[in-house]
Amino acid sequence: MNMDETVTAIGTPNIAFIKYWGKRNEKLNLPSNSSVSMTVDEQLNTKTSILFTDRLSADRVYINGEMQDVHGAEMMERLVSLEILRRLAGEKRKALVVSENSFPAGSGLASSASGLATLTYTAAKALGLKLTPREMSMIARRGSGSACRSLFGGIVKWRKGVREDGSDSYAEQVVRPNYWPELIDIVVVLTRARKKVSSHVGHGLTTKTSVLYKSRLAYVENAVARLIAAVKERNFETLGELIMRDSNNMHATMLDTWPPLLYLNDSSKEVIYRVHELNESEGKIVAAYTFDAGANAQVITLKRNVGKVTRLLGGIESVNDVIKLKMGNGPRVLGESDSLIDERTLRPRSG
Ligand code: PMV
Repeated sequence: MNMDETVTAIGTPNIAFIKYWGKRNEKLNLPSNSSVSMTVDEQLNTKTSILFTDRLSADRVYINGEMQDVHGAEMMERLVSLEILRRLAGEKRKALVVSENSFPAGSGLASSASGLATLTYTAAKALGLKLTPREMSMIARRGSGSACRSLFGGIVKWRKGVREDGSDSYAEQVVRPNYWPELIDIVVVLTRARKKVSSHVGHGLTTKTSVLYKSRLAYVENAVARLIAAVKERNFETLGELIMRDSNNMHATMLDTWPPLLYLNDSSKEVIYRVHELNESEGKIVAAYTFDAGANAQVITLKRNVGKVTRLLGGIESVNDVIKLKMGNGPRVLGESDSLIDERTLRPRSG
């Protein structure tokens, strides 16, 4: 490995069609159920540059230009992936990490998935580790569960696994992006505010207190299998129904959490009503909403219906922004000119 060489990569979020909510092991981020997602294209992205250098005596992390407290509880947990990789490589030097999201953090747009997947991918490359995407997915999982799915492009399954050490809980590709290029994810930005309760805290609260959560676990593995079959058959109607019902089911367990977790707001509900109205007027499912731990909606549809769906959403007063995303290919390394690091000052490059 070259000395003091910055590596830069880009990665993207994923939107879960069957959601991960609740953990069987909090420390290892092992989920209570399997999940399936679509990795999106680079219109929403995280770019990360990493430099391992002996000019630093502690890791230094900048996100969107702001230096982070690397000793704070949240950052320590997030950086566990970096630590695992450094140990694997036998690397002693500290890391300078500079990362930029093209979209707001903490608003239910999967910034942690994109961020942690890209951090893991970039660090593995910077350390010269030859890891498979599956191996990287297991390491990214430690920083943020849903991040493991963003190591792959296309439609991705995260197996919950049964082993206590987590060695069978990893992501794998179900189909490549070109298998169903008509599939579109329309991100409907309704708010840029941070959510009140992070998903990190939410997972544990629902697992501990929701009565409905047990019935979610009883149905969800079967839903995963049915959803994967629908994707392979390119059957949008079945896919759409499974997507909407799973989002509603997860949010029902959130409302049933004590104290309740209410991520949806009135505008989110407006999206739900309008999508059902559209489907009814079309006589079939042509659009499917889904919500993560936040109020912002994502509406899954097919290319030929994008115009109709956009018009429908445009009529909602609080819609800030509508972003139409295709399936993405997963993370990739960028060139030197994309570096976010000023190697002379060890700070983010300006401009
Ligand atoms: O990976 P976390 O801990 O941020 O949890 C994400 C959970 C959901 O976004 C609500 C669902 C999912 O599968 O992405």
